[in-house]
Amino acid sequence: MERLDKLLAGTGRWSRREVRTLVKEGRVLVDGLPAAGVEQKVDPAASRVQVDREALAVGGFTYVMLHKPRGVLSATEDYRQQTVLDLLSPDLKRKGLFPVGRLDKDSEGLLLLTDDGDLAHRLLSPKRHVSKVYRVWLDRPLGGADQAAFAAGIVLADGTRCRPAGLKPLGDGREALVTLHEGKFHQIKRMCASRGSAVCRLKRISMGALTLDETLEPGAYRLLTGEEVAKIGEKI
Ligand code: URA
Repeated sequence: MERLDKLLAGTGRWSRREVRTLVKEGRVLVDGLPAAGVEQKVDPAASRVQVDREALAVGGFTYVMLHKPRGVLSATEDYRQQTVLDLLSPDLKRKGLFPVGRLDKDSEGLLLLTDDGDLAHRLLSPKRHVSKVYRVWLDRPLGGADQAAFAAGIVLADGTRCRPAGLKPLGDGREALVTLHEGKFHQIKRMCASRGSAVCRLKRISMGALTLDETLEPGAYRLLTGEEVAKIGEKI
C-alpha cells in the first residue's frame, strides 16, 4: 500500500503540494469515492484512482512519454553527461524506469520510459517489426530514386543490409518522413549518407501505435493514458 500523495506525485504530473490541493477540492476519487486525505493508503495495483474523472495508469507499471530534447543521452545514468532520467521528477526517477530503445544524443522526439521489461522487449524485438516514424531535415534533398532505394533496402557503407524502409520526401525533399522497422546504430544518418545527404536534425514522431504529444515541449513528459498503454500493448 502507498500513500495517495506519493502515488500521484510519482506520476510526474503534480507536485505533492498540488496533490494536496486536488484532494482538498475533492477532485481525486479512489474507487469512486472522494479521497479522504493525501495520507490515504491505496493499493497501486488494485485501486482505481481518478483525477477530474480521468482514470490514471498508476497501478502496476509506469509508462512515461518524454519529448527528448537534443543534447541529452538516452541512458539511465552517466557520470558526466545529462541523461533522460535526469529530466524526471525525483519520485519518477526512483521507479527504475529505462528508455525503450535509444535516440542519438543529438536526436529529439518521442521516447518511452517504463519499468515494464516485457513490453519494452516486445516493442524492440526485431521479429515484431514495430514501425518507428522520424522526421528528418537534410542538407541535400532526397527524391524518388532515394525512395525506391529505401524501399528496396539500403546497403550501408560497411556492407550491412537494412530492411525495406519508408521515405516520404516533403516539400523540396530537404525534409522527409522516414519509417523504420528495426533499429541499427545511427541507422537513418547512415542510410541518408549512403544516398549522399547528411541529416541535420532528426525527430522521432511515433513508435508503433504511440505518437508524440506535440503539446509536450522538448524536455517535458507525461504519463501515458490508460488508452495509450492499451493501444501499444494490443498492436504488438
Ligand atoms: N537513426 C539515427 O541515425 N539516429 C537516431 O537517433 C534514430 C535513428
